[in-house]
Amino acid sequence: MMLENMRLDRFTRDSRVVFFTGAGISAESGIATFRDPDGHWSKYDPMKLASQAGFQEDPELVLGWYADRREAIRKAKPNAAHISISNFQKLFRHSIVITQNVDGLHERAGNKSIYELHGNIHRHKCNGCGKQVELSNKKMRMLNYCECGGKIRPDVVWFGESLPLQMINEAFETVSSCDLMFTIGTSAQIYPAAQLPFEAKSKGAYVIEINPEPTPFSPKADLSIHDDAGSALPKFYEEIHAQLN
Ligand code: APR
Repeated sequence: MMLENMRLDRFTRDSRVVFFTGAGISAESGIATFRDPDGHWSKYDPMKLASQAGFQEDPELVLGWYADRREAIRKAKPNAAHISISNFQKLFRHSIVITQNVDGLHERAGNKSIYELHGNIHRHKCNGCGKQVELSNKKMRMLNYCECGGKIRPDVVWFGESLPLQMINEAFETVSSCDLMFTIGTSAQIYPAAQLPFEAKSKGAYVIEINPEPTPFSPKADLSIHDDAGSALPKFYEEIHAQLN
């Protein structure tokens, strides 16, 4: 029983629930995280691969890295944690997913109302005018140009760039009025996204963190579960489902 200390009687099917996720939720799908010992940023310099300066310096290197990641993601499948969120969303009609992930696995698992704060690796846009562009798989590894002359790049948010304004504003509004928040598989280090669980907590939400490792948010969490998302989230679902039915 994971929820023995959690007063479930405060939640109903009308409770507003937010699932806030980071790379750790996709780890059990075989997709590398960023800051774990075997994560991307233990091997590569984030400023070379995920910044405007890095892209200008060596666009092919950046495009190649994204193409490799995209291929790995295409082969991966949503795991038990992503699928659990779909089950939760049938239980809680007012629930949304706010993710820092660009892998699209929430959507592939059938999750609804997804805010992809850091973009989506499967989309491309012009680095100049911002127009969305479709590219064939073959072309993704090479440098392509927009009609305006700008370079085509993955439609993701790099270090030093702003998050889509309307989306991040809506995310803050939603978490500040939610009743229950799960923060799952994020090291809670990259702002402004990392502020979201703190915001939810300060506005009175019950916040559950699921992460094998402690994070800067752990001391604030109402419940901090040190376990893998694919194992913890389905257990939560079973217990909450049993209580609410
Ligand atoms: N289940 C749950 N959590 C896990 C699992 C798992 N199976 N495996 C690892 N984790 C946890 C790690 O302990 C770590 O705290 O997932 C977290 C992953 O942290 P990061 O790699 O920092 O990923 P994230 O928090 O999503 O990073 C935020 O940083 O580089 C940028 O744009 C990138 O969106 C990303 C942002």
